[in-house]
Amino acid sequence: MSDNFRRTVLITGASSGIGKVTSLYLCEKGYKVIGSSRNLGKLAPITEKANEAGECFFPLELDINLSDGAKGSIEEVLPELISQHKSIDVLINNAGYGLWGPIEGISVAEMENQFKTNVFAPFRLSKMLISSMRKRGYGRIVNVSSVAGWVATPFNGAYASSKFALEAQTEALRMELWPFGITVSSIQPGLFDTNFQNNMVQGSDAESEQLPYKDFIDNYRRKHKKWRKVIHDPIRIAKLIESIIESKRPRLRYPIGFEARAGMLGSKIFPERLYQGMISRTSM
Ligand SMILES: NC(=O)c1ccc[n+]([C@@H]2O[C@H](COP(=O)([O-])OP(=O)(O)OC[C@H]3O[C@@H](n4cnc5c(N)ncnc54)[C@H](OP(=O)(O)O)[C@@H]3O)[C@@H](O)[C@H]2O)c1
Repeated sequence: MSDNFRRTVLITGASSGIGKVTSLYLCEKGYKVIGSSRNLGKLAPITEKANEAGECFFPLELDINLSDGAKGSIEEVLPELISQHKSIDVLINNAGYGLWGPIEGISVAEMENQFKTNVFAPFRLSKMLISSMRKRGYGRIVNVSSVAGWVATPFNGAYASSKFALEAQTEALRMELWPFGITVSSIQPGLFDTNFQNNMVQGSDAESEQLPYKDFIDNYRRKHKKWRKVIHDPIRIAKLIESIIESKRPRLRYPIGFEARAGMLGSKIFPERLYQGMISRTSM
């Protein structure tokens, strides 16, 4: 443990949504929180609010997509950060975004970028922190995945690919690190009230007239509107993260939100063909 705080937590994507709510909640609960964003200015209001009753939130400018070797990259920033805060006990890989559109309408560069943020950044951050966690015999790595890391739906194939990859990373890393007192878990949210939908990136050719998906995309948009009414408060995820940090034996996966649980359950109990038909009918 470090200072007078319960633990020191590094969370990416602290400027908005789940990361913002979790940062404020953990600060309030006695943790030291280092929260990152690509834009330090976006962290100013959180810093001010979190630190009203004493300094507990430390803003960090970090672009998790910068390549190894570049100034300001994960590999350059992390060693100094670890020595400055003495230890980082908990890593929450939260930063992420959705790339939307039929797979055929997504460029290679767009797909690469999706993987850089949602898969490679958690991999690189975990790699940078494992050895110091191992030395202390304690660590928690929490990957904010998605129900899309379990069930892929039409037009979310790029995003789901990245979250499936993150799930595999979580699963393998968990077994590798368990003997050393470091646990790795994934959270699989359904639909939560954040800026996620507004920040979604559309594939450059998603609606190209050269491609035959227009009617299906219109249907998707119409049906998706109904789903967007089912939306949960991200404070539930913040509380779940606290319970994972404090648990002696956190689970591998935490689906959260009834649609996430239903999605996972459905994939287990229904025959594959039937389930795919159901997903297609409800989404396009
Ligand atoms: N909300 C949902 O319904 C939902 C459902 C399932 C999973 N999730 C997952 O939850 C996590 C948090 O999302 P949110 O819902 O809180 O969305 P949000 O409100 O859009 O916040 C996303 C955060 O991630 C960071 N981020 C986004 N794109 C980035 C990029 N290309 N490079 C680096 N950082 C980036 C942003 O930081 P800066 O722009 O400040 O750098 C921001 O703080 C994501 O991993 C998302 O996949 C969300």
